[in-house]
Amino acid sequence: MREIEEIRTGIGFDVHRLENGRKLVLGGITIPFEKGLLGHSDADVLVHALMDALLGAASMGDIGMHFPDTEDRYRDISSIKLLKHVTDIIREKGYHICNADVIVMAQQPKISGFTKEIKEKLAEAMGIKESSLNIKGTTTEKLGIIGKGEGIAAEAACLLIKYRSTNQSLR
Ligand code: CDP
Ligand code: ZN
Repeated sequence: MREIEEIRTGIGFDVHRLENGRKLVLGGITIPFEKGLLGHSDADVLVHALMDALLGAASMGDIGMHFPDTEDRYRDISSIKLLKHVTDIIREKGYHICNADVIVMAQQPKISGFTKEIKEKLAEAMGIKESSLNIKGTTTEKLGIIGKGEGIAAEAACLLIKYRSTNQSLR
């Protein structure tokens, strides 16, 4: 049996403004809606919160440090590509992704009908099983910026595990 060296949790949070004339991209899929999220990249708030949770758990800062929004090469980039990169650098540090749980806060649209497709997309990008992911939605009961439809927020939590290498355990 492999000996565990470290178990680490991470959290992430993000908000983007909803605007006319933008596609709504959540979890790497386009969801039919009258508005979309505004941002330098595709503004995929779900993936942004997830990446921040992963980077946080690995003590590797946040997405702003890795992908500055002042850089043109990140303009309109698919956040799924950035997620692939984040999972690669986390694996390079020896971490295994146990699970991630994400909550999307949106008054509209309802995301429950899309969570299966989102999980498939994220699992593929992250190289993990769909059963290691959970995606859920909630409204804010029409209260505040989310409830008034001015934006969508997302919060994520994840768990990383590092196993002791065979050499280390021999001492
Ligand atoms: O407080 P709770 O989240 O249970 O209630 P709600 O905000 O009225 O949302 C009811 C249910 O709708 C949630 O539990 C989700 O299953 C779903 N929902 C969703 O899929 N997408 C959203 N943007 C909001 C809610
Ligand atoms: Zn963002």
